[in-house]
Amino acid sequence: MDAPVVLISLAGAGLVCAAAASVSFFYGVWTLGAVLALAAVYAGLSAASFAYTTRRGKFAVWRKLLEEQRLTGDERVLDIGCGRGIVLIEAARRLHRGRAVGVDSWRAQDQSGNSASVTRSNARVSGVEDRVDILTADMRQLPFADASFDLVLSSLAVHNVAEAEGRRQAVREGLRVLRPGGTLLFADFQYASEYAATLRGAGAHDAKTRNLGWRFWYGGPFFATYLVRATKPRASESSGMYTRHRQ
Ligand SMILES: C[S@@+](CC[C@H](N)C(=O)[O-])C[C@H]1O[C@@H](n2cnc3c(N)ncnc32)[C@H](O)[C@@H]1O
Repeated sequence: MDAPVVLISLAGAGLVCAAAASVSFFYGVWTLGAVLALAAVYAGLSAASFAYTTRRGKFAVWRKLLEEQRLTGDERVLDIGCGRGIVLIEAARRLHRGRAVGVDSWRAQDQSGNSASVTRSNARVSGVEDRVDILTADMRQLPFADASFDLVLSSLAVHNVAEAEGRRQAVREGLRVLRPGGTLLFADFQYASEYAATLRGAGAHDAKTRNLGWRFWYGGPFFATYLVRATKPRASESSGMYTRHRQ
């Protein structure tokens, strides 16, 4: 479950509003009752949308995104902030000779029950453990050499870095470890245009964002998830801007 506190708050708000609406109707305070009933419906629908996205919707969207990459099966794929491994494992299923590498710092407030051992066990149950590596690392300082991966992915992870400069650092790290000509796909419900601007500033001239649709709403259309897609320029197209700059 992503951000469990948010889902509990939405569901709790729905229940409180529904109870208050019932009391208002009981005492004949019709206008207040109607407003509270509408608020209860809105909070309930938001909670349902959030729960659907985190349990089902994002899986479907990522499966489609990975299909669109037309992987040959021998790529090296990195999932930044892999959590319990939904994207990592979907990528690994398509890598018969390649490797899927997941990094995370395992913050429980961002996803319930996330840990390296849980993700490893999910990979084992899914039959892909032999092609998956799981590491503990901060996305702002990835423990990989430049150009180590063919495809760099991230799902709902970079927004968890509170400071804008930290998020920019994480995005630049994603581009640094990508090989020239490789693709970067970051999905997030916040800061997508910031990521795209950072990628352009780091030399990825084709960085684009798009709305991933209702399956990836974290509580309704106001909390839609956007995909940021970019390719790393080949040596002949770039000025070497994306090599690591330590802070
Ligand atoms: C909402 S979860 C998403 C997990 C997974 N990508 C998914 O879509 O199911 C966000 C993940 O980002 C991780 N995370 C947060 N800050 C991080 C950081 N600075 N470095 C690495 N991982 C981080 C959290 O531990 C959490 O597992």
